[in-house]
Amino acid sequence: MFEDIKDNNIYKNLYDGQWISSASNNFITINSPINEEEVGKIQAMTGEEVDKVVSKAQSSFGVWADKPVSERADIIHKSAAILEENSEEIANILTKEIAKDIKSARSEVIRTVDFIRFTADEGKRIQGETLQGDGFHGFSKDKLAFVTREPVGVVLAISPFNYPVNLSASKIAPALMAGNSVVFKPPTQGSISALYLAKVFQAAGLPNGVLNTITGKGSEIGDYIIKHKEIDLINFTGSSEVGRHISEVTSMVPSIMELGGKDAAIVLEDADLEHAANNIVKGAFSYSGQRCTALKRVLVLESIADRLVDLITEYVSQLKVGNPFDDVTITPLINNKAADFVQGLIDDAIDKGATLKIGNKREGNLLYPTVFDNVTTDMRIAWEEPFGPVLPIIRVKNIDEAVDIANASEYGLQSSIFTNDIDDAFHIARLLEVGTVQINNKTERGPDHFPFLGVKSSGMGTQGIRYSIEAMSRPKAIVVNLRERSDKVGQVK
Ligand code: NAP
Ligand code: G3H
Repeated sequence: MFEDIKDNNIYKNLYDGQWISSASNNFITINSPINEEEVGKIQAMTGEEVDKVVSKAQSSFGVWADKPVSERADIIHKSAAILEENSEEIANILTKEIAKDIKSARSEVIRTVDFIRFTADEGKRIQGETLQGDGFHGFSKDKLAFVTREPVGVVLAISPFNYPVNLSASKIAPALMAGNSVVFKPPTQGSISALYLAKVFQAAGLPNGVLNTITGKGSEIGDYIIKHKEIDLINFTGSSEVGRHISEVTSMVPSIMELGGKDAAIVLEDADLEHAANNIVKGAFSYSGQRCTALKRVLVLESIADRLVDLITEYVSQLKVGNPFDDVTITPLINNKAADFVQGLIDDAIDKGATLKIGNKREGNLLYPTVFDNVTTDMRIAWEEPFGPVLPIIRVKNIDEAVDIANASEYGLQSSIFTNDIDDAFHIARLLEVGTVQINNKTERGPDHFPFLGVKSSGMGTQGIRYSIEAMSRPKAIVVNLRERSDKVGQVK
C-alpha cells in the first residue's frame, strides 16, 4: 500500500497523482525524539517545484469542483476506510516520529477516521438558500436570490507537529468536500506520518492533482509558499508567532488560523475537587502538555487551594513517564530546544519563589511532570505557553481576580470552570474572552463537529466539521429579477 511513497527510506511528494523526488537533492533527516534513531528522510523542495505544485492544484481544481458532491463524498468515505485498515501501521509511525504515546497515537488515527466519515456525510448536507427581496425596504418579491456554496479554489493546508495526521486531515477532508484542491505542507517533524495520510487520500481515488504535498522546512520554503499568487486560502494551525508572521507577509488572502493557548482552569469553592483535580491533570499532561488545548494554568480560590494542590500533586505522582511504546503518559518532548524552553520557564519560576510540588527532573528531552504552587503574575510561567509538562497554580482571592487574570492573557482559546453552581458557571463563562468554555471538564477540541476557535492571539476563523467546510467555501448568489406578469396571470393572493 505505501511502497511508492519512498525509496531507500527517502520519502517523496505527491504531485499530480505521482510520488516524485525533488531535484534539490537536499534531504532532511527525521530522527525519532525517543532515541534519535532515523525514521526516514524527507525532501526539501525547491521554489520551482512549489510553483509546479501550486499550478497543478490550480489546474486540477475545476474537475474536482464540478464533480457531484455525492461522488466526492464516496471518495472521502473510501479514504476513511483505507485509513482504518492501515491504522496500526500509521499509529506506529506517529509514535516513532513525534513520540506520542502509542495509545494516544492509535486514538489520533481512529479519531481521524471518524472525522473523515463525518465530513463526507456533512458535506452532502451543506445546502444553499433562496432569499426574497421584499424583506428590505423598497424591494419586491420579484427579486429572488439563489445562494449556493462554491469552493474557493486552492487551499494551502499547513499543520503542526503535535497532530500530524488528525490536524492535517481536519483541513484536507473539509477542503475537499467543499470542492477545493489542496496544497498540503506538513510539519517537518511529522512529515512522514502526514505523507502516509496523503497516500491514503490518493489511494481512495482522488483525481490527479487535487491533493499535492510540499515538504521542506517552514523557515526556508514557508514564505515562498504562503506568498504564492495562486493560493486562494490559507488554513494554518501552529504557533501564534508563525500565524502572525503569515498574516503580516500575505495580503488579501483569506486565512483561518488555529494558534497557541494558555487555557485556564478556574476552580470555585463548591467544586467537586477530586473531579476537578483529575480533569486538570489529564488536561495538562496528556501528550506531555504538547496540545494547544492543554490546561496551562490553574486559578484556584484560596480557601480550597491546599486541598486542590494536594490532589493534583498526588495524581501527577501517578503519571507514568518513559518510552511512548509503553503504557505511559509523559514522553520525550519533540526536541531538545523545546525541552530547554520549558526548563527555562521552570528555572524562572523557581528563581522567583514559586513552590515546586513535584518534578523538575530532566533526562535529555524527557521532562518529568512538574507542578508549581504559589505562582505569581511576575513569573513567565503565568503567561507563556510551555508546550510541555509543567502546570502553574495561581491562588486567587475571589472570582473577579480569577477572571481578570484569565482575561489578561494574550491568548483566548478555551477555559474550564469547576463548580457545582451552574449560575456562577454561566456568569463566569460569559465574562471569559475565549472561544470555548468547558464547565466541569478539561479543555479539549472534540467532539469534532463542535465549533473550535480561538480569539486574540489564539486564532481567527472557526473550524469544526461543518464550520470548516463553510470556512473553506463561499456563498455565490444568482439573483433573478422576475418581470411583472399580474396583468396576464392575475394577482398573487
Ligand atoms: P509552528 O512552529 O508554528 O509550525 C506550524 C507549521 O507551520 C509547521 O508545518 C511549520 O513547518 C510551518 N511553518 C513554519 N514557518 C512557516 C512559514 N514561514 N511559512 C509557512 N509555514 C511555516 O508550530 P508547531 O511547533 O508545529 O506547533 C506547536 C504550536 O502550535 C503551539 O503553539 C500550539 O499551541 C499550536 N497549535 C495550535 C492548535 C490550535 O488548534 N489552536 C493546534 C495544534 C497546535 P516546519 O515544521 O517545517 O517548521
Ligand atoms: O493541539 C491542539 C489540538 O487542536 C488539540 O486537540 O484537544 O483534541 O487534544 P485536543
